[in-house]
Amino acid sequence: MIRECIVTTQNRAGVVHIAPIGLIEEGEHLVIAPFRPSLTLDNLRENPAAVANYTDDVLVFAGCLTGRRDWPTRPAATIAGAVLEQALAHAELRVVAVAEDAVRPRFRCAVVHEAAHAPFRGFNRARAAVVEAAILVSRLHMLPADKIDREIAYLQIAIDKTAGPRERQAWDWLMEKVTEHRAKNKEERRA
Ligand SMILES: Cc1cc2nc3c(=O)[nH]c(=O)nc-3n(C[C@H](O)[C@H](O)[C@H](O)COP(=O)(O)O)c2cc1C
Repeated sequence: MIRECIVTTQNRAGVVHIAPIGLIEEGEHLVIAPFRPSLTLDNLRENPAAVANYTDDVLVFAGCLTGRRDWPTRPAATIAGAVLEQALAHAELRVVAVAEDAVRPRFRCAVVHEAAHAPFRGFNRARAAVVEAAILVSRLHMLPADKIDREIAYLQIAIDKTAGPRERQAWDWLMEKVTEHRAKNKEERRA
């Protein structure tokens, strides 16, 4: 079971970093598995704690992948960490074990505090589509163009039928990123 959420970490100086991460459930623990290199990984080494922010605001997911990382936070209750203002609920995590790996080290975390802040108001297909598209965008450099096109065409249906303004904005940011990536590739091939 993987929970797609917004993970906040901070370095020794207290600078907060926000990133969408899939937390892996393993019994009572949550595992953070950041690819190398990443700021989340660097921060976990400096300050072995994190906040799992459970949010349905997909603008934060799309924003983080398109250079818009400046989302409001407040200090966590029990760890040196930051809680995203948009979180419906959050869990404060302490790293209890690290499994080193050349590609993707795994930080096993214990949940030391949990709190709920706002009600969950049901699933929305456009939000799910934005999360899927965000994953595609995070892998643009690895995936073939025709696979990306096919998946975007399918996800677009849910956007057209069920999106509100925030989901539409999130989708537009991600589609701009796909277009930019393709223009850059085309230029590089020409050079
Ligand atoms: C839904 C979702 C889940 C993700 N899960 C992971 C993950 O488990 N590990 C990871 O390294 N990156 C994951 N990513 C990609 C990161 O969000 C992105 O690459 C991020 O910038 C990590 O690098 P950073 O810590 O330097 O910001 C995920 C992206 C999305 C949209």
